[in-house]
Amino acid sequence: MTFVAPSLLAADYLHLGQEVADAEQAGVDYLHIDVMDGHFVPNLTFGIDMVAQIAKAARIPLDVHLMLSQPESYIEHFAKAGAKIISVHIEACPHIHNTIQQIKAAGCKAGVVLNPGTAASVLAPILPEVDLVLQMTVNPGFGGQSFIPSTLQNIQYLDQFRKQHDLHYLIEVDGGINQETADLCKDSGVDILVAGSYFFGQVDKAGCVELLKK
Ligand code: DX5
Ligand code: ZN
Repeated sequence: MTFVAPSLLAADYLHLGQEVADAEQAGVDYLHIDVMDGHFVPNLTFGIDMVAQIAKAARIPLDVHLMLSQPESYIEHFAKAGAKIISVHIEACPHIHNTIQQIKAAGCKAGVVLNPGTAASVLAPILPEVDLVLQMTVNPGFGGQSFIPSTLQNIQYLDQFRKQHDLHYLIEVDGGINQETADLCKDSGVDILVAGSYFFGQVDKAGCVELLKK
């Protein structure tokens, strides 16, 4: 089963409530929210209050992707704001085991994120602890970039590892996802597809979700 999570980064911010309602109506499973700090990545996006307002309007779970240096300082705040999944970058977390426990203690599902240049094997010790692994399929910071095919190796590693060790974390991909790249990811074991510009660029969003899930 494949799940779809539109990235609100590509939504029309002046009509965000309508964009959320339309996405839900189209049958998506999560709302993906990209939080950027202008430090870990060279862009700035949504803050805690924005996530709290989206949570009030949304009927489906918020999947919050923290592209922050020292994300541990903000976990509690995003959990209180209504995040259901919180994911942090391994590249930003020297104490990842502790950070994952912090996310769980805040009542959220815990995800760890890999940049395209990071080998998935670095996650081996933490994989039994996480609910989700988010593989970046572009370098984080901006929507509308092209999918990086070498990231499929990490996805295959993560899929094999969970089978070998009888683990049940979900594998999510983020960046450059369209119908074609979605198929490559699904063939490699991906469960959740994040799609920003591709999803919000569609007139027939329900048709798009149906095709992505196929
Ligand atoms: C990139 C973000 C992505 C981005 C994906 O840093 O994490 O979620 O919005 O956008 P598209 O689907 O346009 O590549
Ligand atoms: Zn993201």
